Formats: sequence, C-alpha cells, structure tokens
Amino acid sequence: MSDMDAENSEREGGAKLWGGRFTSGGAGTNALMESFNASIRFDRRMWREDIQGSKAYATAISKVGVITPDECEQIQAGLDRVAADWEQDRFDILQSDEDIHTANERKLREYIGQVALKLHTGRSRNDQVSTDMRLWVRQRVAELRGYLVEFIGVCRKRAEEEIDVLMPGYTHLQRAQVVRWSHWVLSFAWPMKRYVEQLDEIAARVNVMSLGSGAIAGNAFGVDREALAEDLGFNGVTENSMDATGDRDFVAEFLMWSSLVMARLSKWAEDLLLFSSKEFNFVAIADQYSTGSSLMPQKKNADSLELIRGKAGRVFGHSCGFLMTLKGLPSTYCKDLQEDKEMLFDGMDTMHAIVQIASGVLATLTVDSEKMSSALSPDMLATDLAYYLVRKGVPFRDAHSLSGSAVALAEKSAIALSSLTVEQLKTISEVFEDDVRSVWNYTSSTEQYSSTGGTSRRAVQEQVDKLAAWLTSPAPR
Ligand code: ARG
Repeated sequence: MSDMDAENSEREGGAKLWGGRFTSGGAGTNALMESFNASIRFDRRMWREDIQGSKAYATAISKVGVITPDECEQIQAGLDRVAADWEQDRFDILQSDEDIHTANERKLREYIGQVALKLHTGRSRNDQVSTDMRLWVRQRVAELRGYLVEFIGVCRKRAEEEIDVLMPGYTHLQRAQVVRWSHWVLSFAWPMKRYVEQLDEIAARVNVMSLGSGAIAGNAFGVDREALAEDLGFNGVTENSMDATGDRDFVAEFLMWSSLVMARLSKWAEDLLLFSSKEFNFVAIADQYSTGSSLMPQKKNADSLELIRGKAGRVFGHSCGFLMTLKGLPSTYCKDLQEDKEMLFDGMDTMHAIVQIASGVLATLTVDSEKMSSALSPDMLATDLAYYLVRKGVPFRDAHSLSGSAVALAEKSAIALSSLTVEQLKTISEVFEDDVRSVWNYTSSTEQYSSTGGTSRRAVQEQVDKLAAWLTSPAPR
C-alpha cells in the first residue's frame, strides 16, 4: 500500500477535509451527527456545477502560479474523470463524503493523488457552494423561462383562434358582463409575461460570481476574479466577500417569485376547475390531463388542475420556510444556509413540472362555445342599458339607477330584462325609445369595450398581436 493509498483509506474511515484540528482527523464524529450534518444526499445534484467551478478555479490559480500548468492539466483531467463517474452513475458515495464538494475532491485525490490537495488553495466551501448554487439556478431558471414563454404562446394561439367565443365574465363569482373567452385566456398571459420579466431580473442577480470570496475575507492569491467569472459565463463578480459568502437572497427571491406565480396559477386552475364542472361545462379537460375514480366509474377528475392549485401551498411553504431560516442569522456563512438546497430544489422541480403541465392542459382542453353563450343572460346587459341612457345624455349615476329600476321591474314581472317593452321602460324614463332593442345583443355589448385592454374583438386582437411580437423577442443574456 502506497502512502497515498494509506491516506485515502484513512479518509474512507472517516477523516475529514477539516479534520486537522480534530482528534483522529474528525473520524470520531457521532454517527447521527455525521448524517445530520451531511448534504451529499441532496447536493449531489450539483455535481456538474461543482466540477465546472473547480475546473475554472484550477485555471485561475494556475494563472497566478499557485499550481504549475502541468498540475493544472492533471487536475482538469482528473476532474473530467470524476465527471464521467457521475455521468455514468458509478460514483461511489462514502459515508464520509459530507457534501458534493468533499466528495468530488476525495475522488479527485483518488485519481490524481497529492496534486488534488492544491485545488482548494484560497477557496472555501463557502464561496464554492454559493457559486455552485448560482450556476445551478442559472441553468434551471433559463429552462423555466422557456416553459413560461411556451405557456404564453399557448394562450396567444388559443386567444387568436377562439376570439369570437363569448362567455359570461364573473366578479364575486356572480355573472357580471359579457367577455370574450380569449380575453379570459389572455388575462393569464399578461401576468405570465410580467413573471418572465421578473425572472429575467432575478436571473441577472443570480448570474454574478461569488467564487474568490474565500470563507469570508476574499482571495489571498491574487486570483483574477473578473477573468474567472468570464470563464464561467457570469456577468460580473460580487463586490464584497462578506456579503457574497452569506448571501442567499437569490434563493429567497426565486422562491418568493415562485409563490407569486403559483398564486396566479392556482387561480387559473380554480377557474378552469369551475368551468369544467358539469354545472358550467364551458370546457372539457383532455383525458391525458385527467384521472378517474377507483369507485365511481363515471368520474373524470381534473387532477392536473387540482395539483397545480394544491402545490401552490408547497411552494409558499418553501418560500416562508427559507425566510424563517434566514431570519436572525448573523452575517456571513453559517451552516443554517445548507437548508437552502432542499427548499430550492423542490421549489424548482415543482415550478418546472407545473408550468409544463399548465401549458399541456391549456393546449389540449376543448371549449364548448354553445354552453358558454347559453350561459349569457340579459341581466348581464344591465350596464349596457345604463350606457344606452348615458349616450342619450343621462348622467351615469342616474342612468345606473334607472337601469336598476328596469332590472327590478323585470324581476317583479318575472320576465327577462330584454323582454321589457318600450312602454314598460318608458314608465321608468321617457328617454327610452324603440332603438333600445339594439342593447340586447351580446356581441355588440363586447364591441363597446374597444379602448386598449378591453374585450372588443379589435382590442383582444391587439393583445394577441402585442404578445406575438413579444414572443419573438430574444431572452436577455
Ligand atoms: N454543504 C455546505 C452547504 O451546503 C457547504 C458549505 C460548508 N461550509 C462550511 N463552512 N462548513 O452549505
């Protein structure tokens, strides 16, 4: 057995990266404490980012002469072998592999020996883990952005194709005014566009490199952080090492942003669940996004939508939970920060799944335009009746009250508002004339709302066109 092998086996027996000041190299850690402390179970997901950061860091320290070009090459080649192990799912995780950083360094040492011990010069797991996380989030956020854009694309497509479908619009869940189905669809595209813009801002703050901050004080070996950042594709470097090592705002921001998106999507899901119930029957959720009941053969449940609504709670939980972790921490790194990962990973996985499922549900549902239009009722035109009077010079407050009287009269006579004769209406106001008949038309009702943002055909088409233009604009880098 060579000296190095002996050292390795000692490490396998439980000696730690940080074991120098401990009795038997830290091998005596309480067994429960060892697993309690370890993050390898979940942070192994960042193996790729950890290796990417290490390779770039090796180059950076070779440029300042900490390692020779030859040593740098050995480290690079060794790290490639470690990466291949992960890639091919043959990385043997040891009990003493506390976290992904420790595991990769241990493996590197097995492959290239003593040279591996130079890689960590001037670096700390504090700046390393933050860098890994930033790289990891950067990649997943870019993918997530794509899914959000896809959702907006589905909204745009449906809105354009089904622009002539009318439906009741609800406030307080009561029939309010006639709107276009497309207008409802797009009422979710716009917030999603805002979320994409917010995500772009978050992504810009994520894409700042913290490597070179060391444990707290900075880098003592003159590493060119700007060059290192460029090498890793970051847009810049953090400006203060004490800030950088303890900062997880980018994680909190992502989770808070996710909460906002989920609050929106759970509302969207709830609307569709209502619209797809037998009582409404406005839409049918495709079989591929529904499940059945083990007892009631007739059942088809929109579990996709229920899970979107339900998982909002989980995401809010991560967001609040992580803020609780951050609250009251002293500045710079504390082990509490290791709690960031499970909440972030699960939050990210949930968001990835949900946005894709939402696009799928929306792309495949079918609309029953007959059912939607047969749910329209003349009372929804009471506002139009008031506007009719306004157009004849009646002040709106008076018109509102006169129209209200017409509603009451119709209700008292047990007839539809639109069935009131001109004579009956004249008992309410002399201003009513024969042309009041023109009010009783749902399509022309929507056509009044032609100002930007309204539900007229033209105004909705304008939304579609604006979104289409935005959809072709490239993502910021
Ligand atoms: N596993 C740790 C984490 O996720 C890595 C950083 C450890 N740093 C330390 N000083 N113990 O936060």
